[in-house]
Amino acid sequence: MQCRSVAIPVIACAMLAGVAPLSTPAVAAPLADRPIVIAHRGASNYLPEHTMEAYRLAVQMRADFIEPDLFLTADGVLVARHDRSLNATTNVQQVAASDPDLFAKGTQVAGTRQYYIDTLTYADIQKLSAVSRGGAAYSNPATSPYYDGTESFAVPTFNDVLDYVYDLYTSSGRIVGVYPEVKTISGAATYNLAIADAMLTALADPKYGGFFDGRFNNVFLQSFDQSIVQHLSANSDLPVVYLTTCPSTAAAATAIAQYADGIGISTGQATQACIDRAHAAGLLVHAYTVSLANPALHDTLYARGLDGIFTNTPDLGVASRDALYPVPEPASLALLGLGVMGLLAARRSLC
Ligand code: G3P
Ligand code: CA
Repeated sequence: MQCRSVAIPVIACAMLAGVAPLSTPAVAAPLADRPIVIAHRGASNYLPEHTMEAYRLAVQMRADFIEPDLFLTADGVLVARHDRSLNATTNVQQVAASDPDLFAKGTQVAGTRQYYIDTLTYADIQKLSAVSRGGAAYSNPATSPYYDGTESFAVPTFNDVLDYVYDLYTSSGRIVGVYPEVKTISGAATYNLAIADAMLTALADPKYGGFFDGRFNNVFLQSFDQSIVQHLSANSDLPVVYLTTCPSTAAAATAIAQYADGIGISTGQATQACIDRAHAAGLLVHAYTVSLANPALHDTLYARGLDGIFTNTPDLGVASRDALYPVPEPASLALLGLGVMGLLAARRSLC
């Protein structure tokens, strides 16, 4: 049962699909009812990107979705990293300096030894600590209130992320979404497809009991690679977002809608005309990336009717989204409950 593109709240969808209703519908409903706040690489303006600490902080800040970018290690483990090279976001060069085996796996590129995820094992990556790439859009231990630079941060696997989100649901009833991106290596089609397939396999792991199968509106899949987007659409019922430039015509938007549920575009491309054109073709529109370098963009873009924003500051994103799209009042929730009961009664009468 698909609930992505209709205005049925997730609690109603869950009930109709035969899933036990949540005890906290006011928390679960926003994933379907309002524009979403996507924690881009976690709360990455406050903690090193793609760490469990950054994802957890984003969840504490009430982000709707957390976003892991994914690569496969040489021994087939999905890890959350944005770059193929580990140089910019881990201490790999420092570790390799005293680890000959690790050093030997590096690749000399224009005077710099690069350590690529696809050439290292997960055991190699477990030796590393994640760090911030720096700059105004990413965390700085000198200014962040959340760490001081003395901590060690593991590089998480995709399973770590899914376990965390699922455990949060089973322990508290809160539904947080995951928005994994298939990262790709140019000219490595087989490897890229392997990332996509491993991602789908992880989401369908029976240990999650169908939690990530789409019934809770808590998963989006994404890629910049059109062939990967088409592969995901063909092999999954989960909604897929194509990271691309804004379709310049209605026909171009309609063409994308044949194989994708939405587009992810840069904030600079998220004009009112672009958003309206994509919506007219039935596409969701998400934009990346807002951060402390440009926080006012949250308000500007949500006001244009975007369906979601990737943000490095989920606290500011949630504040902006909530100001424009308030949480339903308790009275509205009571009406919603009556509506659900009516839907169930109607469904029973049809059976
Ligand atoms: O996936 C949306 C956004 O994250 C795309 O940018 O380069 O940060 O993965 P990037
Ligand atoms: Ca991404």
